[in-house]
Amino acid sequence: MSVIGLSADKIKHLLKIDSKVMLFESLESTNLFAKELAASGKACEGDIIIALSQTYGRGRLGRSFYSPACCGVYFSIVLKPNIPINDISLITPVAAVAVATAIEKATNKSPKIKWVNDIFLNGKKVCGILSEAAFTADGIGSYVILGVGINLVSPKGGYPEDIKNIAGSIFEGEEVFDANCLVADIINNFFDCYKDLNNKDLLIEYRKRMMLIGDNINYTVNATRKTGKVVGLDERFRIIVESDAGEREALQSGEVSIGSGNI
Ligand code: BTN
Repeated sequence: MSVIGLSADKIKHLLKIDSKVMLFESLESTNLFAKELAASGKACEGDIIIALSQTYGRGRLGRSFYSPACCGVYFSIVLKPNIPINDISLITPVAAVAVATAIEKATNKSPKIKWVNDIFLNGKKVCGILSEAAFTADGIGSYVILGVGINLVSPKGGYPEDIKNIAGSIFEGEEVFDANCLVADIINNFFDCYKDLNNKDLLIEYRKRMMLIGDNINYTVNATRKTGKVVGLDERFRIIVESDAGEREALQSGEVSIGSGNI
């Protein structure tokens, strides 16, 4: 697979919104860069920061996100949402729908969403999403950074030992692929959904692609370790779990694991 190089101008041209698109060969983390811009008042809603590699890509729960050059695309969108604070948690799952839909168009394959922020293809994680928010008392300086990391092709020599059983890439084979279209589609899809995060169609789209339903998982609520079965997704994109003790609980986030592995 040959990936056509990313270009800030091409992406900007393909976007339906008027965004400032910044492209870097390498950054420590696009989320960190975007946060620094936003915190210093220099970023606007819709600004896009893209890196071709990251030296310390940030993942959920303080983990790192493997971000080598020539294999993936790593980007962050600056958001200044004028929405109720409770709706901020909808941004990540809605972004997952936007990413999955764009990957479907690019590949004709059927990516799945692993609650709440990972996209899987053929049983392997091909994309991680991380939203990071900061709030000010007056709300004016508040922002959310939505970060998306996609593995386009596998690194020569394969993925590192610690992630080789989990990580995958969205393309295989010999065709040429234009990564600019994929990035622009994700951003366009996201901004279409972002207009109305409570649109019930987004839940339908998420549920269609959702992994975990029917799976037994280990999870923690108020520092208590429990086991149970995933039975659904509520209207706030929380998974509904029926514990072995028969209680139904809606899980917002936190450490949830399936069997012995972490989500
Ligand atoms: C996860 O898998 O836990 C989430 C990974 C999110 C990675 C993306 S890559 C672009 C953006 N910048 C970062 O430092 N992280 C996100």
